[in-house]
Amino acid sequence: MNHLIAPSLLAADFNNLKSEVEFINKSDADWLHLDIMDGVFVPNISFGFPVLEKVADVCEKPMDAHLMIVEPQKFITEFGKLGIHMLNVHYEACTHLNRVVNQIKEAGMKAAVTLNPHTPVHLLKDIISEVDMILLMSVNPGYGAQKFIPNTLSKVSELKLMIEEKGLNTLIEIDGGVNFDTAPQLLEHGADVLVSGSFVFSASDRFETIRKLKAL
Ligand code: DX5
Ligand code: ZN
Repeated sequence: MNHLIAPSLLAADFNNLKSEVEFINKSDADWLHLDIMDGVFVPNISFGFPVLEKVADVCEKPMDAHLMIVEPQKFITEFGKLGIHMLNVHYEACTHLNRVVNQIKEAGMKAAVTLNPHTPVHLLKDIISEVDMILLMSVNPGYGAQKFIPNTLSKVSELKLMIEEKGLNTLIEIDGGVNFDTAPQLLEHGADVLVSGSFVFSASDRFETIRKLKAL
C-alpha cells in the first residue's frame, strides 16, 4: 500500500480556518488529522464541536480525529454525526477499550487505538484484531512542533511484526515530529500513515511539502 499523509489542523492558522481546510482539500493530502485536547488527559486544550462542525462543513478529505481526552466514550455518537472517518482513542484513556472500539464501529466509523510513547506495543495483543489502525505517538501528546522520540522506530517494527504474524491489515499511523528526516525512517520500519502538523503548515511551499512527503 502507498503510504498516506494526514496534515494536522493543530498547526493551521486559526484566523483563517476555512481557507486552511480548503488548502488541505486542494493538496495531495489523504486525510485531515484533527487533534482534540481536553486539558485533563493532556496539558493543553485545542478545539471542540463548534469548531469541528465548521471544519466538517468545508473538509472534503476523510477526517482522522485524535481524541486526547478522558472518557472518550461519552462523545462517540457526536463524532459519528460529524462524519469522522477514523476515530482514535487512547489506550491510556479507556478502561473498557474493547467496548469503546465496538461503539466506534457501531457508530459507522473506523476505529483506531493510540499509544503514548511510554506504552508498550505488546499491550495491543488482545485488541489489535478488532481495530482498523494503531496510532503510535512519537511525541508526548499535547503540543505540536515537538522533537521526535527515536524509540518510536523500534515500536513501529514490533507492531508491524505483530500485524504480520496475525495476518491482519491494520494500518500503522505515526504522529509527532514527522519531517523529511524522520518520515523515510518511519516508512522503512513499516508506517502506513504519517501525521504532520508544523512541518507542513510552516513550510514555504506547503503543497510541495505534502507532495514530497507522499512521494517518499
Ligand atoms: C500532538 C498532536 C499532533 C501534533 C503533531 O499532541 O497529536 O498531531 O499536532 O504536530 P507536529 O507534526 O508539529 O509534531
Ligand atoms: Zn494527533
